[in-house]
Amino acid sequence: MEQLLAGLRAAGEPTRLRLLSLCARAELTVTELTQILRQSQPRVSRHLKLLVDAGLLSRFREGQWAFYRIASGPEGPRLGRAIVDLIPENDPMYIRDLERLDEIKEARAEAAASYFSENAPRWDEMRSMYVPEAEVEACVRGILGGGAVSDLLDIGTGTGRILEVMAPDIRHGVGIDLSHEMLAVARVNLGKTGLEHCQVRHGDMYELPFDDGSQDAVVFHQVLHYAEEPASAIAEAARVLRPGGQLVIVDFAPHRQRVLIEEHAHHRLGLAGEEVTAWCESAGLRSELVREMKGEPLTVNVWLASHRPRASSGAATGKISTAVDD
Ligand SMILES: C[S@@+](CC[C@H](N)C(=O)[O-])C[C@H]1O[C@@H](n2cnc3c(N)ncnc32)[C@H](O)[C@@H]1O
Repeated sequence: MEQLLAGLRAAGEPTRLRLLSLCARAELTVTELTQILRQSQPRVSRHLKLLVDAGLLSRFREGQWAFYRIASGPEGPRLGRAIVDLIPENDPMYIRDLERLDEIKEARAEAAASYFSENAPRWDEMRSMYVPEAEVEACVRGILGGGAVSDLLDIGTGTGRILEVMAPDIRHGVGIDLSHEMLAVARVNLGKTGLEHCQVRHGDMYELPFDDGSQDAVVFHQVLHYAEEPASAIAEAARVLRPGGQLVIVDFAPHRQRVLIEEHAHHRLGLAGEEVTAWCESAGLRSELVREMKGEPLTVNVWLASHRPRASSGAATGKISTAVDD
């Protein structure tokens, strides 16, 4: 009762209710929240602190910024989400807040896009500074190769490298990317190698231009550390995956290289195993860390996920299941 009352008291104020509803939709900094609410920073910070103290919001640091999001502890999300769900969708202030939130998201996307535009031609070179490239690519090919994959989708394909690596093993490959400049580089690369069964197209990982259950395999290679909402991106990948299909996620283990956030537009300091497991779980996938490639200063992890087997199918079949949940 005490915890519930503390939560209700914290949310029972107009600015704090707006903050709660915004932080249920995105991870936001005080500066961004100040821009949306048009209130002073000390005032917004004070309200945020009350919401954090009441367990409705959680605060986490990424590089030089502190982000706020709806709490993900055992009690916080139930109450916080329940309150947010009760806000009338036609409330003018609520509508205006969401419009301003969209503006913030667009500005962030533009900043990331301009980074990629500037760096598109140099990306292959930059990437090799951090990752034992041949080893990672061999690992992805070891998982997905062998002829079982007909249709492959490479999300955030960048220069199209994963398509090139997988090309000998697949019937058809598509890479999607948000950056036209990256796509231009990928098209040049694929053209050079004459891979006509692989294409790239413009697309957003949060809204994949593919039908449900249309892909045998989906890859996120060094993409999710840029994602604002990895859980949504993984859910979208799960949607387009066929029953028995495989999702491969390659990304950095948690690290302290803040320069990647400050100068390279990363959104996260790597991905923690338990985060990946939870994102996959909520998308109906079962995931497993299949490879850990320790490097200096960055370690690369490879996760494999597939739809959970039907409860009625009896025995679990190891790493890769063959049926979709009902
Ligand atoms: C670090 S690069 C990795 C490229 C490639 N997977 C590789 O490993 O060579 C990340 C890519 O994700 C793309 N990206 C970022 N946000 C995206 C989104 N919302 N939808 C699709 N692609 C996105 C970027 O444009 C960029 O090309």
